[in-house]
Amino acid sequence: MAEKKIIAVVGATGAQGGGLVRAIMNDKNGPFTARAITRDVNSDKAKLLSKLGAEVVAADVNEVESLKRAFKGAHGVYCVTFFWADFSPENEKAQATNMARAAKDAGVQHAIWSTFEDTRKWIPLTDNRMPTLMGKYKVAHFDAKSEVDHVFTDLGVPTTFLLTSFYWENLIHFGAGPRKGPDGKLALTYPMGDKKLPGMTSEDIGKCALGIFKRGREFIGKTVGIAGEHLTGTQMAAALTKALGQEVRYNEVPAEVYRSFGFPGAEDMGNMFQFKRDFEQVYTGARSIEVSRALNPALQTFESWLKTNAGRIPLE
Ligand SMILES: NC(=O)c1ccc[n+]([C@@H]2O[C@H](COP(=O)([O-])OP(=O)(O)OC[C@H]3O[C@@H](n4cnc5c(N)ncnc54)[C@H](OP(=O)(O)O)[C@@H]3O)[C@@H](O)[C@H]2O)c1
Repeated sequence: MAEKKIIAVVGATGAQGGGLVRAIMNDKNGPFTARAITRDVNSDKAKLLSKLGAEVVAADVNEVESLKRAFKGAHGVYCVTFFWADFSPENEKAQATNMARAAKDAGVQHAIWSTFEDTRKWIPLTDNRMPTLMGKYKVAHFDAKSEVDHVFTDLGVPTTFLLTSFYWENLIHFGAGPRKGPDGKLALTYPMGDKKLPGMTSEDIGKCALGIFKRGREFIGKTVGIAGEHLTGTQMAAALTKALGQEVRYNEVPAEVYRSFGFPGAEDMGNMFQFKRDFEQVYTGARSIEVSRALNPALQTFESWLKTNAGRIPLE
């Protein structure tokens, strides 16, 4: 049997990268094996990846030399940054630049860069429909990622630009699930109006990414958008009502109200939802469910995801 090609995966103990490592290692007859990158090879999460058969190596996205070592000999690399770790778009840009340089240094055949749209293309900083954040962004964790797309291209790294979707796991880990209101009833509070929110289980991002790597050169130089479903708040609430066996309402709030909630990153999230709401056609149009299913035939719907995960959603 031909030797397996290595895919080096940044964020391997996290949502996107973890999904990709599991997808690769579960694809027993596939062409790839995973090299899982973590800052701590001895963590429980790292050990679980090792048990799957993945090679686990240490690197830090803030240290380009460590990335060069971690990418060495790899056929492909999966690159992702971690906005929510420190809410710093400037760090994201520096880290993505480090990954692009390390990918170039290693001479990889294929990089996938998990990026987003630059929302300022549709809402320039002069547009007051939403506040400008940090003096130069509308949605910082989108705009900053997009700003560094060109670094991969300029360096000549063969890259696929991946546009992901809202993780349904945010309902479990990110405070984006249904909450009990003063009336004791559960409500899902998003500023999405009656517009559709592309969503997916983060586990499917990895499976779609594996599909992209398997297609060889087909998606190099291209942008690929993925989603499991495009659902309105009302549709999500209806699915939750069915899965939880108790009523969940959709509580539509204005984006300015969402921005004022005060949790860390609330303004960025409020702008993000508003962008998705006000540019529904652009945003959903960039995330094809058909393409996602072609890349990953096991693509889950919200209903199928809820069947196994509804019990993990905290209901307070
Ligand atoms: N939440 C959503 O709905 C959503 C949707 C689409 C895209 N995104 C984007 O997804 C990105 C985050 O990806 P994720 O959700 O997969 O991350 P995650 O689950 O938060 O996990 C990230 C992993 O990255 C590693 N990491 C953190 N800092 C690192 C560093 N300095 N060097 C090397 N590794 C580091 C950590 O591993 P170790 O501790 O093992 O080193 C961690 O387990 C964000 O930029 C966000 O904008 C989020």
